[in-house]
Amino acid sequence: MQLRSLLSQFSSLETPFYYYDLELLEKTLASLKEHIKGRPFHVHYALKANVNETLLQSIVKAGLGADCVSGNEVQHAIKNGFDSSDVVFAGVGKSDKEIKEALSLGIFSFNVESVEELYVLNELAGQQSKKARFALRINPNVDASTHEYITTGNRHNKFGVTVDELWLLLDQLSSYEHLSFIGLHFHIGSQVVDMERFRHLAIRINELQKVLAEKGYQLPHVNVGGGLGINYVQPDKEPIADFASYFAQFEQYLHLLPNQQLHFELGRSIVAQCGSLISRVLYTKPGDGKTFIILDAGMTELVRPALYRAEHSIENLSAAGSKEIYDVVGPICESSDTFSHGISLPRTQRGDIIAIRSAGAYGEVMASRYNLRELPRSFYSDEI
Ligand code: LLP
Repeated sequence: MQLRSLLSQFSSLETPFYYYDLELLEKTLASLKEHIKGRPFHVHYALKANVNETLLQSIVKAGLGADCVSGNEVQHAIKNGFDSSDVVFAGVGKSDKEIKEALSLGIFSFNVESVEELYVLNELAGQQSKKARFALRINPNVDASTHEYITTGNRHNKFGVTVDELWLLLDQLSSYEHLSFIGLHFHIGSQVVDMERFRHLAIRINELQKVLAEKGYQLPHVNVGGGLGINYVQPDKEPIADFASYFAQFEQYLHLLPNQQLHFELGRSIVAQCGSLISRVLYTKPGDGKTFIILDAGMTELVRPALYRAEHSIENLSAAGSKEIYDVVGPICESSDTFSHGISLPRTQRGDIIAIRSAGAYGEVMASRYNLRELPRSFYSDEI
């Protein structure tokens, strides 16, 4: 559905707000399911991308599991209908309280990120007379070729254990009575658009699996994390992420062992394109060789441009015709509160409705109350 056709509905609402196209989400989920059908693949949705309860309903219905990075996310997932036996819990810094709660809830697996965490998990599982299933997060040292802040599988990053640590750990595992080693976990980074990076990861995993097999380990699961990127430049050209090419990399290059399952933790590629941030132009004013458009939405509603210099496609839904060059900025007292520099938009005026596209992932969920702003509300395609 073209957003422009919703202009009169948007105009009657208080801005800024998130608008979610639930039909597009359904189509995305259907496409995702189609691409994993008949393969030993299972997708856990990465809740960190968006925890909106309406979106979660569709995601649960599609049969995805949940990938969580905090105790609150684990609880939120289960409260919203994910089966606890389909929840994985990752994160470099899980607190004792979070681990205890997740153990009580009987989650599927902990993605363990350090030797020390493994020791703590064993102790805490013992206190509850449980055996905790865990996958070891390995830092594969594969370059994801994305923004440095969202690169995770490089040897300089804080995530996971090194391959050398893995070999050392194997000798100690038998002393951990309350743990069950069920898999390897990886995640090279986010917004990865070069599919070759996933191929490198698959090849790296094959090397590791070969050595593990020689040492007598045949683990039931491999988890390759998430990271599939989306088209921020032309969201309407590619409203659904390229699941075909993504899954094909693993299908072709990752040699699963007999009965081994491949797990994925996709976030952005599932929810990004269905969300837009809808805002109103408060003012326009001349700048040095350009014109500023000052929106009523800012980095408090969508922090990605300020934090990563991310570019989201911006549309003026109210105007058409001759274009001018603008800097689109928010109202917050920070110069980084800028959505775009020097973009071409139809001549814009106070009151125009602006859509900032591809904001369904890491948008609403990263909103803040800085400057004591209200958190943004959400509207859905089935209600307006
Ligand atoms: N698994 C792990 C271990 C992760 O760290 C992440 C994302 C995912 C899965 C999901 O990745 P996705 O499929 O969404 O790329 N706030 C940033 C993105 C941070 C991603 C953090 N980890 C942004 O707005 O671009």
